[in-house]
Formats: sequence, structure tokens, C-alpha cells
Amino acid sequence: MDTSLFESVDQYIGNLLGDEDAVLKGTLKSMKDAGIPGINVTANQGKFLQVLARLCGAKKILEIGTLGGYSTIWLARVLPADGQLITLELEQAYADVARQNIIKAGLDPVVDIKVGKAMDSLAALDAEDEGPFDMIFIDADKPPYTEYFEWALKLSRPGTLIVADNVIREGKVLDDNCDDERVRGVQRFNKALADNKQVTATIIQTVGSKEHDGMAIVVVM
Ligand code: SAH
Ligand code: DHB
Ligand code: MG
Repeated sequence: MDTSLFESVDQYIGNLLGDEDAVLKGTLKSMKDAGIPGINVTANQGKFLQVLARLCGAKKILEIGTLGGYSTIWLARVLPADGQLITLELEQAYADVARQNIIKAGLDPVVDIKVGKAMDSLAALDAEDEGPFDMIFIDADKPPYTEYFEWALKLSRPGTLIVADNVIREGKVLDDNCDDERVRGVQRFNKALADNKQVTATIIQTVGSKEHDGMAIVVVM
């Protein structure tokens, strides 16, 4: 596939409407410097998440998968002053880098990073009655996406927006015999989404400066 047109159009959109400033660029650089993989959302996807957060008037956001804090910063920037974003990360080293970036963005008063296995942190959030969240972004390891979705539903109210990244994987989800556990994980999630009568959902394919993929957009009824 010739992806150069997708990349050029992504640039065009970013030049017109993107808001990737020095702090966000610095976040990407800090990740490179620390050897953290560049598997963050793209700038235009970050802006897309911002638009969605504003659309649902989000005051309380949950993110599963922090990495270096890139998507976290996009999302937290549209929270009101009394808003809150809780983000879950397995790797202490990534969380440390993310924390520095969040401080540089001036967002440490509204962002809380919880280090540990997302499954444990989600159970703790539920036990502590931290829900309901207005928006939940699922973007951690792919094999347990269905379980993350089940926790997200528990931590939701009618109208909560759930977004899940990486659910198309260059179309590998079309292959029923794919043995990549990440692909199998999102295939299982996509099927669970389709079977769930409690939600209104679709999947948007994404192309641009990163590989062809997709985001599930889910409203809880
Ligand atoms: N949302 C980020 C990208 C997240 S990449 C952005 O767009 O900027 C996926 C992250 O999930 C990685 O940082 C990885 O360490 C983390 N992760 C992987 N397995 C996890 C688990 N079991 N619990 C919590 N986080 C996990
Ligand atoms: C991977 C994870 C992501 O969240 C992403 O956006 C791209 C790739 C991965 O684990 O391969
Ligand atoms: Mg992702």
C-alpha cells in the first residue's frame, strides 16, 4: 500500500488544526531519550480524543495505558480545573517519564498515575467507588482488551464514552487464523462489543502518519 498520501494528508490536517505544542513534542523526545517505544497515538488522534472529551463534557477520565503521557496530556488539557484523569501503567520507568511530562504540562494537579497491572488497578478503582467516569480510553496490552472493556462498563454510567485504540491492526483482524495474540485480543474485544446490547458502538478506521488501524467508539446506554 502507498501510504505517502495518508501521511501527507495527516500533515495537512495537523498543520491546519493540530495543536501539538512544545510540551507534546518534548514528551515524544523524552520517550525517545528513555528508549520508550513510540506506540503513542498520533498528534491528530490526540486532537481527536480531545474533541471527543469535549463533546462528552468530560470531568472525570480514565486511561488504561499511559506510556510516556502523550495521550494523557492531550486528554487532560480539556478537563475543567476541578476535573480528574486517572491513568494506569504497568511499567514504573514509563510512569516516571510520564509524570515528568505531566508536570511540564502543568497538569499534575488533575492527573493521577497508578502503577501496576491494569487489571488490579481497575479492581481497586471499583472497590474504592471511583466511578463513574465520563470517558474511558482503553490503550494498554491487547490480549485482555475484553476484560478491560468489562471493567470499563462497571466504571461507567449511561452516556459514558469508551474509546479503544488499535482494534483493526492493519486489517489483520480479518484473519480468523491469525496467531498474533494482540490481534486475537482485539478480535475477541470487537466480537464482545458487537454482542453487547448495552452499548451503541462503531469502529473508525484510521490512516495517517502511523500504520492503518482503528478506534472503537462506544457509548454506554
Ligand atoms: N496511551 C498511550 C500509549 C499506550 S501504549 C499514548 O497514546 O500515548 C500501551 C501501554 O500499556 C504501555 O505503556 C505499556 O507498558 C502499558 N501496559 C502493558 N501492559 C499493561 C498492563 N497489564 N497494565 C497496565 N499497563 C500495561
Ligand atoms: C501497540 C500498542 C499500542 O497502543 C499502539 O497504539 C500501537 C502498537 C503494540 O503493543 O504493538
Ligand atoms: Mg494504542
